[in-house]
Amino acid sequence: MLNKIGIIGGGFIGGVLVQEVVTRRLARNVGFMDPAPFVNPNDPPEKQAVAEKQSVSKGKALDISEGLPIIGRDVTIEAAKDYSVLKGAELVISTAGVPRKARPDGTFPSREELLTTNLRITRQVARGIKEYCPDAIVINVANPLDAIVYTLNKELRPPKNKLMGMAGVLDSTRYRYFVSQAANVSVEDVNALVLGGHGDTMVPVRSSCQIAGIPVAKFVDDETLGAIEARTRKAGGEVVGLLGFGSAFASPAWAALEMAEAIIYDKRKILACSAYCEGEYGIKGLFVGVPVILGKNGVEKVLEIDLTDDERAALAKSVAAVKKTSGEAEELLKKL
Ligand code: NAI
Ligand code: 2OP
Repeated sequence: MLNKIGIIGGGFIGGVLVQEVVTRRLARNVGFMDPAPFVNPNDPPEKQAVAEKQSVSKGKALDISEGLPIIGRDVTIEAAKDYSVLKGAELVISTAGVPRKARPDGTFPSREELLTTNLRITRQVARGIKEYCPDAIVINVANPLDAIVYTLNKELRPPKNKLMGMAGVLDSTRYRYFVSQAANVSVEDVNALVLGGHGDTMVPVRSSCQIAGIPVAKFVDDETLGAIEARTRKAGGEVVGLLGFGSAFASPAWAALEMAEAIIYDKRKILACSAYCEGEYGIKGLFVGVPVILGKNGVEKVLEIDLTDDERAALAKSVAAVKKTSGEAEELLKKL
């Protein structure tokens, strides 16, 4: 158990994170920040006064705290509209950023279209971390995932093991779930990795997908696997299209918590995470989804696994997409 975890952003994912941190006894204290609802300076003073008093994080924190006697957890949740509640956090999970939302015509923006708004937010997040918990291990969840982690790295300059993004765990669990359904076996038996950027170019690695240690091809035919991999690449959008009000939040929160637990309990778990690459898979100076060992120091090691020629080519394409968005982020940031 940690002394303190910081959760930045108290929306759909942030809310689930706080509930789960408390339920799973991951920390004695939780620092929970979200600036919403925002005060609009153009509103009449009475309306501004109402917004000033309201707080999404304080409201959720009070709701969860009032339930603690029922679940028997002695946890202090400090909530605020500013970053001061992060003071002393050893691990921070940031979900601060707008999600993809379906437009009235049913279409929705790409993760990359969120870039400008989320870069502004990311800069504030970096300032908050720098001021109140500069030594924390940071897991970013906000999109566009790899470019936001890249930006946090530019702003924070942390040791490379201490900063990472959550996406590969989510993309891999989606792949694993679809395979389990096609093979009609327990979800627990399917092992798989999805690498590359968290976007439509992500790479479900069929050559390392196994069911109870047996190659997946023994259970599921080629055509079905192709369809599953295509669905995995678009799985985030599938949920956005169905929900209508935002994007997936339960499985992303669980995915971030799988990473957090690997760190907190020094599990040395092998998970796909957006990590800083220094030549692995030919990737240099970017954050991209790769298999890593996660332990008490954060990213203990980036693992290079064997890939088929097709998988290697697909990964190179995905890295190029991450490089493009990360470069755009860097340019945009100069103008913000
Ligand atoms: P949400 O809109 O419910 O919550 C985001 C929260 O961030 C809001 O409550 C908002 O007030 C807050 N926020 C805005 N500016 C902030 C600031 N400067 N500092 C701190 N908080 C601030 O969104 P949701 O569904 O929780 O998603 C959060 C992010 O995670 C989005 O960018 C979404 O695209 C991304 N996401 C990433 C996934 C992944 O696999 N990496 C999966 C699903 C979502
Ligand atoms: C997801 O994959 C939208 O990135 C978000 O669900």
